[in-house]
Amino acid sequence: MTTPTPARPANTISAKPGPFTVETVLEVKHYTDRLFYFRITRPDAFRFRSGEFIMIGLPKEDGKPLLRAYSLASPFWDEALDFYSIKVADGPLTSRLQHIQPGDQLLLGKKPTGTLVLDALKPGKRLYMVSTGTGIAPFASLIRDPETYEKFDEVILTHTCRESDELVYGNELVEAVKSDELIGEFAREKLVHFTSTTRDDGPVKGRVTDMINSGELFERLGVPPLNPEVDRVMICGSEGLLKDTKQICLDRGFIEGSNAAPADFVVEKAFVAT
Ligand code: A2P
Repeated sequence: MTTPTPARPANTISAKPGPFTVETVLEVKHYTDRLFYFRITRPDAFRFRSGEFIMIGLPKEDGKPLLRAYSLASPFWDEALDFYSIKVADGPLTSRLQHIQPGDQLLLGKKPTGTLVLDALKPGKRLYMVSTGTGIAPFASLIRDPETYEKFDEVILTHTCRESDELVYGNELVEAVKSDELIGEFAREKLVHFTSTTRDDGPVKGRVTDMINSGELFERLGVPPLNPEVDRVMICGSEGLLKDTKQICLDRGFIEGSNAAPADFVVEKAFVAT
């Protein structure tokens, strides 16, 4: 539910020069009791590549910043910045961050970075974006970047969560991207969204890794199995997903890429914001 107006006076931060800027919360939407989205102002000088992450935070009682890494979930061309976060009841930052409202302020780092970027991949035909949970966030940025569609004929976003209500953010996002004026035409032609759940009985049940190994994923998508000649893979999610999907890639002859040496697949942990 979108929070329309703040129910209390906004929490402001006195600006001090340093490695952060002070930004204002524009929108907050709670998806489940574990997941929420927020949108903040973007400084004019803030530049990033789709798929990168940045430090976000709030000042502690002693005035020092309490920060966590967050993937930027908005495209580089957007006027504001989107984030998709977990809520951890006793997490030092998210226990507070989950209560932010429009008008509140927070700290934004100045140096975006990360490996889930198009520059870290060699050219290919089909791009897989494999995600679990909040690991979909960097892909929320990349599926709105025209370069993604310039570089690949087909873009397959897989998102696996424990339960169906955790898929809602991704479903809404893909729907919005496909009807977007700017990017919709490319997304309708090239973007495929594949979802599964592991702990409730949604339409497709199972871990994406199991479905890759059994071939079920490719049968359902109507594409050939993973092939390093033509496929590229980006992976973001839980530790287990990263480890297992990376192994799947290595077993099939894929080489891990980086900004310095682009190759066939890239991996980034979905930051467990606490
Ligand atoms: P599962 O329910 O079978 O553990 P989490 O909420 O713990 O971050 O998990 C998000 C999703 O990632 C869940 O659907 C979970 O499945 C799945 N997952 C966890 N570990 C792995 C793994 N090693 N490989 C593939 N998927 C995984």
